[in-house]
Amino acid sequence: MPDQDIAREREHARGRPLFEEWDDHLFKGAAEHYERGRLPYADGLADVLAAELALDGTGTLADLGCGPGTLARLLAGHFARTVAVDPDPDMIERGRELAATAGITTITWLTRPAERVSFEDGEIDMAVFGQSFHWMDRARVARDLRRALRTGGHLVHIADVKTERPTDGGIPRTEIDALVREYLGEVRRAGRTLLRQGTPGDEEEVLARTRFVGPRRIVVKGGGTLHRTVDDVVAEQYSMSFSVPHLFGEALPEFDARLRELLARHAVDGGFEVGRPDTDVRVWTNPPPA
Ligand SMILES: C[S@@+](CC[C@H](N)C(=O)[O-])C[C@H]1O[C@@H](n2cnc3c(N)ncnc32)[C@H](O)[C@@H]1O
Repeated sequence: MPDQDIAREREHARGRPLFEEWDDHLFKGAAEHYERGRLPYADGLADVLAAELALDGTGTLADLGCGPGTLARLLAGHFARTVAVDPDPDMIERGRELAATAGITTITWLTRPAERVSFEDGEIDMAVFGQSFHWMDRARVARDLRRALRTGGHLVHIADVKTERPTDGGIPRTEIDALVREYLGEVRRAGRTLLRQGTPGDEEEVLARTRFVGPRRIVVKGGGTLHRTVDDVVAEQYSMSFSVPHLFGEALPEFDARLRELLARHAVDGGFEVGRPDTDVRVWTNPPPA
């Protein structure tokens, strides 16, 4: 691994950002696969948030690292206005299209990193991160939100509960991982760099240091199963930062054929019955300024 990457990994351990600047290779090409590929958050998520946080259709939501507006679209009806932010232009474009199809008109889309958004003091009532905070300069974004969120406003972190996925429906994950490593190497890829230790999970420390109050944790049960076709699982693979299509270069057609062949060999009735993951919700409250 180049020295530069080793240095970055050391900093990562100290709560530092993974990237000094947004790396436009990170999710390049993922947008078209995202909505189909990613498993949905638990069905009850919007209702649980509305009840727990007394959402009443007023105020402003910021969805930071919105991807194709997964949470912005889900929650827009609970706010007067939503600001959806992502530096990947294709994610934003896809979000716009999906919102238009759903008749949602209250979302403003911003193509930029969360670190580059300037909100007015107290402009935001709730900020939400759906599996995106770890990519950011977390200390900086948290500091900015202490000012941008109104006092008593909420910062909400949302992720799949990966360890509680009841069944993966026979998807050959170990073989898929080995196939990806065969083409992309042993160390996890991330845009133009490598991540030896994966992404940081230090949001609780970072937010404690920034003096947010919390977290309050809620787990929304997924429940039941979803039928996933071979195409769905291929889309999931290409929606992941560590195996977005461009990383395979000219070998993409060959990788694609081998992935499909592997999945077809394990599929039952053309697919997989996958347990719906639970959704992990952690809520912090913005106290009055010190
Ligand atoms: C795993 S996707 C999550 C998308 C969506 N929030 C969801 O819950 O499905 C992570 C997203 O974070 C975005 N992202 C990465 N670095 C970012 C940054 N510095 N500021 C804002 N978004 C960023 C990526 O472009 C990507 O769309």
